Amino acid sequence: MIDLSKIKNALHLDELEKIRVELLGKNGVITNEFKRMKEIPNEQKREFAKNLNEMKEKAAALIAQKKAELEEKALELKLKSEKLDVSMFSNRSQIGALHPVNMTMDKIIDFFTRMNFSVETGPLIEDEFHNFEALNLPKYHPARDMQDTFYMSDGTLLRTHTSPVQIRTMMNQKPPIRMISPGAVFRRDYDLTHTPMFHQVEGLVVDEEGKVSFANLKFMLESFLVEMFGDVKVRFRPSFFPFTEPSAEADISCIFCEGKGCRVCSHTGWLEVLGCGIVDPNVFKAVGYENVSGYAFGLGVERFAMLIHRINDLRSMYEGDLRLMEQFK
Ligand code: PHE
Repeated sequence: MIDLSKIKNALHLDELEKIRVELLGKNGVITNEFKRMKEIPNEQKREFAKNLNEMKEKAAALIAQKKAELEEKALELKLKSEKLDVSMFSNRSQIGALHPVNMTMDKIIDFFTRMNFSVETGPLIEDEFHNFEALNLPKYHPARDMQDTFYMSDGTLLRTHTSPVQIRTMMNQKPPIRMISPGAVFRRDYDLTHTPMFHQVEGLVVDEEGKVSFANLKFMLESFLVEMFGDVKVRFRPSFFPFTEPSAEADISCIFCEGKGCRVCSHTGWLEVLGCGIVDPNVFKAVGYENVSGYAFGLGVERFAMLIHRINDLRSMYEGDLRLMEQFK
């Protein structure tokens, strides 16, 4: 009469729900059977109702059981399709990298701190005394020309080198002094190898008279340049700076052609990398030091970075082009 086998064969939850409505819904087969009660002769009513109730309970139980079964199956399927592969690549956020100038600066600072130099800093806005006068750069010196220096209306200026930190350190401390000073400097200049702002590292060693010689300077800078550029030859060429006497420029054998001569070294086989010398007595006089000797050096960090990373246009370092910067991760 009423077929309950459909319940067992149901494949989906919606199909099962349809069957439930067919059997037990308002107009369902079993529900309708109850409506037939009044047609049943009195003496059979009891039996009829008992059978029908049993049938109803059985159908409800079977449906509940099947429902649980199908729900579990559906959940299993859902879990399987939603499985997370944690080893799969996702859109990772970009990780930054140090700018080549910072990287080079860190490498330079690392060498000199290992050599027991302290790291000193000074203001970017300087006065004529610290930037020029105390460094034996008298008023008529060409480096003080408006073309090179950014002057402010109040007579202050943007420091043109890190050498004023030598003066500030000597005026604030007593010898012996063994310091470097890394930082930004400013000059009115803009082309392939010059930007209005760039970075220098200054070095200064001061001790009792006769204790600091050019040989000490040579040894320190040779060790430094070999650490920075690898297996290079180093030579010192006589030069001039108002604040050192004698003065020299240090060259390394060209890292591009190994000294054979190429476009980068203008076919000389050598690359100029820093200025240095024995501190001029006039500088010590300006800071009130007596009976001392010392050496000083100064270098351009961008130039080092360009040579180490073979970058040929300095301006590209400050254009913020990620395609260039990403290569330094
Ligand atoms: N201050 C010099 C420059 O800017 C570099 C230098 C520093 C040279 C110390 C000698 C000694 O060119």
